Amino acid sequence: VATVSCLLPSIRNSLEPSIWKLLEEIAQEAEHKGWHLYIVGGAVRDLLLTQNNEKVLLQDIDLVVDGFHRSADVGAGVELASSIQKKYSNCRLSVHGEFQTAALLWHKDPEFGSLWLDIATSRTEFYPYPAANPEVEASSIRQDLYRRDFTINALAVRLTPPREGELLDFFGGILDLKAKEVRVLHANSFIEDPTRIYRAVRFAVRLNFEIEPQTEAYIRYAIESGIYEKLRLKNHVAPALTTRLKAELKYILEANYWKPALQLLSDLDALKCLHYQVTLDEEIWWQIRCASRWLKYLDPDNNIGHWLIRLEILISQINFKERKQLALNLQLPKESIERIKIVNILHSELQKNLINCQKVSEKYKQLYRHKLPDLILVAVNSSKKIRRIIWQYLTQWSKVETPLNGNDLKRMGYKPGPKYKVVLDKLLSLTLDGEIQSKEEAEMIVEEMMKQLN
Ligand code: CTP
Repeated sequence: VATVSCLLPSIRNSLEPSIWKLLEEIAQEAEHKGWHLYIVGGAVRDLLLTQNNEKVLLQDIDLVVDGFHRSADVGAGVELASSIQKKYSNCRLSVHGEFQTAALLWHKDPEFGSLWLDIATSRTEFYPYPAANPEVEASSIRQDLYRRDFTINALAVRLTPPREGELLDFFGGILDLKAKEVRVLHANSFIEDPTRIYRAVRFAVRLNFEIEPQTEAYIRYAIESGIYEKLRLKNHVAPALTTRLKAELKYILEANYWKPALQLLSDLDALKCLHYQVTLDEEIWWQIRCASRWLKYLDPDNNIGHWLIRLEILISQINFKERKQLALNLQLPKESIERIKIVNILHSELQKNLINCQKVSEKYKQLYRHKLPDLILVAVNSSKKIRRIIWQYLTQWSKVETPLNGNDLKRMGYKPGPKYKVVLDKLLSLTLDGEIQSKEEAEMIVEEMMKQLN
């Protein structure tokens, strides 16, 4: 971890030249306006953690403008972002008025790739009530850093003169980076923002750090205080909280380190933040791992969103009524909410029907109407026998093709119409049951059937 007083040369070496040039330009613009500019948060943490000139791919950069306490400068970040946007026509400017921050976004840009650059005006936040969205007023960089989650994320490097390149470490972030510890800045942090519990876990697992013991005690205290339950019952607060919680959960559940992270969340009892009935007992843990293995094989390009299925399994433990409400609060996609609603019914229906099916075609008829994620959710919660049938359907039977298709029937001289479906369905059943092997056999059966249907 670097501790030199002027960090600009090492930052320059670790960044792509185009990104460095952009930062220089923003700093010049800020200087011109008489403001200070800092790079803060995760970017500084990641830059300090890089070794010997290794390049850091930053896709998310947080800058803070210090507007010198003048209330007129509350919008300094927005003003700065607007002037930069005028120079770069290929980026989009998005302003979050409420928080006085502006974001410049480049999407698949030849120069910057995908880059999200936030420019905030330095500010203090006070929380009108626990877990609410913060309210903002202009203030100094120290206070801006103090409102952040962990010491390792509360570091800043000044980009404007005088003393450009100076590292600002008010809370011992450098020591914690060296000691590989995630440490919160103050005792109330998790009460103010419960999503930080998930962030602590995410950083600990991702960076291979430990959660510092006092910080862990604060986490446990916040959870035991039951604040999440109280908040969940107050509808005016819960949506803001749960949406941010979902964003953090998504990060965790889609990362390649999702298993240790989920385990750590469970060890800390933090899954309770979602709902008091959510646990990671052996059964649920097995279900999530099994679903993940199936998804990896059956949906290798991750079109379904594997993280979402993991979350759905966690949520499906909750009693029916509250489960639906939680899914709505978390603003899960429509299909997810629908799935969470029907999974139990589908489970009992398939359990009952599949057990009585003898032939492959009969089993196929029970399954073909259902989507892959629905079947996976049912499978992981079913007996070995049923799970095996679903697996065979997904890996083999669903891929079986009939020896003849609609074009073949046309070629054989039959007029297209409703009969085609009847005949083709029958051909599929016979093929699935191994009762026809060749095209010739299929043609004979078609002729026979067409005669009977006439
Ligand atoms: N932050 C915070 N509390 C939160 C969310 C964010 O204090 N609940 C602060 C942290 O200082 C963080 C910064 O806002 O560094 C930016 O947030 P984000 O981009 O989510 O975090 P990064 O540290 O940049 O994480 P990553 O590297 O995963 O993007």
